[in-house]
Amino acid sequence: MDKTPPLANNTPLDRMRQRLAPPEYPHDDRSRMRMVMDSLILHLHPSKVPERTLTWTYTWGLGGLAGLLTMILAITGVFLQMNYTPAPPQAYLDVLALRSNTWFGDALRNLHHWSANLLIVVSLLHLLRVFFTGGYRRGRELNWLLGLGMLLLVLGANFTGYLLPWDQLAFWAITVGTSIVSYIPLIGDFLNRLLLGGPEVGAATLLNFYALHISFIPIMVVILMSYHFWRVRKDGGLTVPKSPEEKGEPKSERVTTIPHLVRRELVWAMIWLAILILWAMLVPAPLEGIANPLVSPNPAKAPWYFMGLQEMLLHFHPLVGAVIIPILGLGTLAILPFIDINPETIGVYFRSRRGQALALLAAGLGLLITPAWVLLDEFVLDWPAWLSGWPTFISNGLVPLAIVLLGLFALDEGIQRLFRADAEERTLFLFVFLFSALIVLTLIGIFFRGAGMALVWPWELTAGH
Ligand code: HEM
Repeated sequence: MDKTPPLANNTPLDRMRQRLAPPEYPHDDRSRMRMVMDSLILHLHPSKVPERTLTWTYTWGLGGLAGLLTMILAITGVFLQMNYTPAPPQAYLDVLALRSNTWFGDALRNLHHWSANLLIVVSLLHLLRVFFTGGYRRGRELNWLLGLGMLLLVLGANFTGYLLPWDQLAFWAITVGTSIVSYIPLIGDFLNRLLLGGPEVGAATLLNFYALHISFIPIMVVILMSYHFWRVRKDGGLTVPKSPEEKGEPKSERVTTIPHLVRRELVWAMIWLAILILWAMLVPAPLEGIANPLVSPNPAKAPWYFMGLQEMLLHFHPLVGAVIIPILGLGTLAILPFIDINPETIGVYFRSRRGQALALLAAGLGLLITPAWVLLDEFVLDWPAWLSGWPTFISNGLVPLAIVLLGLFALDEGIQRLFRADAEERTLFLFVFLFSALIVLTLIGIFFRGAGMALVWPWELTAGH
């Protein structure tokens, strides 16, 4: 029987009502279930989306993947919590027991560990995708800021979780990581003590980190993420992809969310679940010997996502490397949507054809110049000796910072003159250059720093362990 409501009048309003009317479901259990699922989905998504936004190579499914990883973390986290005591040495013993005496304990722990690390990478890639497509423009500024807040929370969740196994790796990485906080002027020591719950990493730190990890941070993530998803809807859905040659608003057919978008999301989630479960079964999360405050590994490194920061501390006075540069970086990210505003290129990857070439050039230059600068600073530059008598904050902080800023300024001028790049292409160029510099610094910190944080080849690093 035809269940569609009859058209009283064939006016445009009637036709619209007809289109938006929920589908009729037969009265059986399966259909009722389907109705519940459909209305759940339509709380999250609009009923129709522009077909073009479904293009896989536009979003790469990264926001959805970040959401999936967060769900996996929440579920596995609840199970891990059931087998964990946040006090040394029991915390370590619990993790050991989890690995050997608990059903699927090891796999759960691995899944939690790898999903958490992947979430950092995926959030950063999603940030890049949004930046490259100008996805923060025209009304989406707030959502970009919410995203930045979530990125900080994701880092905070990873950092606080790092300590919980209470092994050597955790203890020393957190000791190094938290010491960075103390470089903040005036309040640094106070903040450091507050975080640690005492003068050094100990039982109070473990309890503090545990509380932050299982309550404050997840609650904030849920609040910000719900708001983030809701804003995507409120801001008129995703930005629509467009080619550099296209002018004006991109035209796109609208298709129903169910099944077009939802089917893609489900397939994507299934693929990733399969990869992650397989990975978690095959690759164990690291666990070293129990934390020993008396035996410090050499080198003692921060968690991998803070290695760029730790590397920076080797080249700049701590106040510049650990405070001024990160604040400048985060501040720039926060104001980007307010200075990079051209509505015409929303949805165009890298702004223009020239932008695509410039982004490639910037990434290449970042890959070359950053290691060259690290080597130069390691073996040639010696600002504190050359400017002896000056406070090190100036000689080893402000002076190298000013030189780096001048270098960036020169690069920007060069791009403008050589390629006639416009303002948004120059912003893109500098962003990609700095981002690739950060990646290179992080890789150098992880793979090329050995005992005493001296430069070594990666194979010497493994040999030394
Ligand atoms: C846990 C982290 C995050 C989750 C779960 C998440 C989730 C999502 C999802 C599902 C979308 C829509 C689909 C897509 O673009 O893939 C989206 C869009 C968006 N996200 Fe995120 N996101 C996260 C982090 C971030 C970060 C770090 C930023 C930037 C700082 C950001 C900024 C945005 C913006 C501006 C949009 C709208 C883009 C457009 O309309 O083209 N998000 N996010």
